[in-house]
Formats: sequence, structure tokens, C-alpha cells
Amino acid sequence: MIRAEGIRKRFGAHEVLKGVSLAMAKGEVIAVIGPSGSGKSTFLRCLNHLETIDAGRIDIEGDTLVATDAAGHCRYAPDVEVRRICRRMGMVFQHFNLFPHLTVLQNIIEAPVTVKGLKREAVVPKAEALLRKVGLSDKRDAYPARLSGGQKQRVAIARALAMEPDIMLFDEPTSALDPELTGEVLRTMRQLADEHMTMLVVTHEMGFAREVASRVAFMDGGELIESRPAAEFFARPEHPRTRAFLDSML
Ligand SMILES: Nc1ncnc2c1ncn2[C@@H]1O[C@H](COP(=O)(O)OP(=O)(O)OP(=O)(O)O)[C@@H](O)[C@H]1O
Ligand SMILES: [Mg+2]
Repeated sequence: MIRAEGIRKRFGAHEVLKGVSLAMAKGEVIAVIGPSGSGKSTFLRCLNHLETIDAGRIDIEGDTLVATDAAGHCRYAPDVEVRRICRRMGMVFQHFNLFPHLTVLQNIIEAPVTVKGLKREAVVPKAEALLRKVGLSDKRDAYPARLSGGQKQRVAIARALAMEPDIMLFDEPTSALDPELTGEVLRTMRQLADEHMTMLVVTHEMGFAREVASRVAFMDGGELIESRPAAEFFARPEHPRTRAFLDSML
């Protein structure tokens, strides 16, 4: 579904990604963990073109988003193709990013109507079904300001799903939430995983990584240090930097 090879990214003189590679199969749930500043968010943002890369190659479902030629030049697919490829990925951020002036339902149908050009009548029943799925049918006509953080994040997940993505990217979806609200969001994500959604999840929720992820990837200092099946990863972390990080999390 996703194949990233040798991704390099610098901001000014600071090389934030130093050749990150990750391949992800359909239905896999990969948790990305690692210290603050290690490049986790930047990596995710490169995958769906919220950042451009300096070197490497990204293929999404067999289509090349960007590749680096023999001379070292990074070449992106034409704009139309880039948009088509990136539309297959839904993204959920730490800070929800809901439109404050739109109701919950309007937030969910906005992109399908304006980006995909679908008819409102066709999209509303789907949006209502998504609201049932995330347990928020009663908030259909509420504005985001009236929702709790956990509810906002579940709306953000429903909004991403409304575009019918093949892959969901999550960047610390629970880290802005109080502990008692984290559980409801993780439950929604677990349900998606049970339905075999392909998910790449940056998280510091070790319980989620251990129980839901099929694989855990550890990033440190702009490198992907190791990526292994979750049970193995926690039982026998291979790299000393992984061990040091896991120790620091206890
Ligand atoms: N737009 C930007 N301009 C300049 N530097 C940036 C930019 N975005 C990120 N960085 C830097 O890149 C490095 C990696 O940032 P990134 O947000 O990817 O880390 P992270 O692993 O997601 O950290 P956290 O766990 O705190 O979210 C950091 O040193 C950060 O300051
Ligand atoms: Mg981050």
C-alpha cells in the first residue's frame, strides 16, 4: 500500500529525515513511536505531500508519488496525479482541525461535496452512518465548540473516512486529550483496525501499539531504527536506542 524508500528531508541546515524507509501491506496497522523531534510527524506529512521530500521515493498503491532520478533530482508526479494519489489517504491530526463555523454533519460532508463533487443528498446518509459508527449521531447538528476533545477527534476521524480513503494516517490523535477521553478515540481506531483498514499511527500510547498494531516502528534522530511485529518489538527490542526509549517510557 505504501512503499517509502530512503526519504530525506531537511529544514534549512537541519536534516530531519535521514533516509527513512518503510513498506506497508494492505490491512497492516503500524504504530510509529519515538522521542519528540525524531521526525515522526514530518515523515507522515511527506507521505501525503503536506511536505515535499529532498530525496527518496514514495509509492502509494503502486503509483509513484515521487522518485529521485540518477542525477539526484526529486521528481513528483504531475499535480493532478499527486492529488489523485493523496486523496486515497485520510489524515487525522493531534488538534482535530475541524471547521468551527460548520456543524458536525457539515464538517463531514464538506470535502466529499467540494473536492469529490458528490451530491449532498448522496453524501448525507453516508455521513450519518459514519456518525453512528463513531457513536455521535446525537451531535449531528452541533458545532465543534460544543464538543469534548474526544468527540471532536471522533468527528475528525469520521470526516477523514467520508472521503473513503484506502489508508488512514494518524498523528498523535490522542495526545491533546485528557486520559478519560483517550479511550473512546482509541476504541474507534481499534474498530477501524478490526475492519482491516490500513493504518499508520504515530502515537505514544504503548498499550495501543502493543495490542492493536501489527507492527511497531521506532524512529530516533531522523532515522527509522527498527520495525518489527508488535509482540516481538516489546518483548525483544533489538537496538540499544529502542531499549533506552522503552525504558524511559516506563
Ligand atoms: N516546518 C518546519 N520548519 C523547520 N523545522 C521543522 C519544521 N517542522 C519540523 N521541524 C523540525 O524537524 C524536527 C522533527 O520534527 P517532527 O515534528 O517531525 O518531530 P516528531 O517526531 O513528530 O516530534 P513530536 O513527538 O514532538 O511530535 C524537529 O527538530 C522540528 O523542530
Ligand atoms: Mg509530531
